Amino acid sequence: MQLNQRKAAIIGCGFVGSATAFCLMQSGLFSEIVLQDVDKDKAEGEAMDITHGTPFAGRMKIYAGNYNDMMDAAVIIITAGANQKEGETRLDLVKKNKKIFEEIIPEISNRDYEGILLIVSNPVDILTYTAIKISGFEENRVIGSGTVLDSARFRYLLGKHLDVDSRSVQAFIIGEHGDSEIAAWSSVNVSGIPVNDFCEMRGHYDHEEAMKAIADNVKESAYKIIKRKKATYYGIAMSVKRICEVILKDEKAILPVSTMMHGAHGIEDIVLSMPAIVGKNGIETQVPIELNEEEERKLKQSARILKQMIGIKKDDVKK
Ligand SMILES: NC(=O)c1ccc[n+]([C@@H]2O[C@H](COP(=O)([O-])OP(=O)(O)OC[C@H]3O[C@@H](n4cnc5c(N)ncnc54)[C@H](O)[C@@H]3O)[C@@H](O)[C@H]2O)c1
Repeated sequence: MQLNQRKAAIIGCGFVGSATAFCLMQSGLFSEIVLQDVDKDKAEGEAMDITHGTPFAGRMKIYAGNYNDMMDAAVIIITAGANQKEGETRLDLVKKNKKIFEEIIPEISNRDYEGILLIVSNPVDILTYTAIKISGFEENRVIGSGTVLDSARFRYLLGKHLDVDSRSVQAFIIGEHGDSEIAAWSSVNVSGIPVNDFCEMRGHYDHEEAMKAIADNVKESAYKIIKRKKATYYGIAMSVKRICEVILKDEKAILPVSTMMHGAHGIEDIVLSMPAIVGKNGIETQVPIELNEEEERKLKQSARILKQMIGIKKDDVKK
């Protein structure tokens, strides 16, 4: 089926799905958005509410639909699935959301969908791996939002610390989107200037302390927000909008998305967030990132944790 490059679909219309739809409506990227949820009323209600904003943004169609309605969408965004609840382990979440993916993904792959799948539901690295395996789609067109949000938080905090626009800060969080994520300090720079030199230019000399505070703050962000308002959704909605923009405009921008590992850093057969060139066909290629010994060790540890979570017994991570 011919894809409509101005059409997106969102599966799951909870906090994240509806915030994403609202954000996409304002972006002008799409002229048609299909919303789908097991709770049909929720999808319909969100479609109605968001549509009422279009007179201030531009003419477009936003409606509740089914899987047949989304087959010509350039991008299908999956945000369906449970949030981590109090007292629940991450493993519980894996089981619950993997089951949901076992229902959703065949609905898409059995219809021979040819566009891009953008996975947002958590644990995003594991569910991206699950989506690749179940769909049988080429790996380049199954993308996880990965650490795009974590890297945005990282850049925001660095920009604040250095009193500079965070868009001038080049900084990546890599590995798992979760507790074992790694702040790749070795490659952080502000407009090409290594971060420590820039810090000193701005009067900061206590590098170790500041680095720890910032990396901890990034890692704890989701927990802090969830404690206060039960869910996070605006930051991820903007992250999803940015990924869609890069795809639709074939920007070939470098984003830390969840991609299948094929031996880089000695890691294979697991999905991790690494900087990659993204364009109209999804992921073009991973981009090498400079890591020191400690960061390299943590990245392998992150891969091991994800493999344990996904239940892969064989250890492909070289010691
Ligand atoms: N990747 C990220 O950076 C990031 C950030 C925030 C949240 N998330 C994740 O996004 C997911 C959604 O979070 P939320 O706060 O919107 O949760 P939510 O509970 O508000 O919404 C989930 C929605 O999914 C729907 N759903 C469940 N099973 C479905 C199915 N089979 N088909 C269609 N819809 C189905 C539910 O009815 C519900 O409306 C969670 O897994 C959360 O952890 C990811």
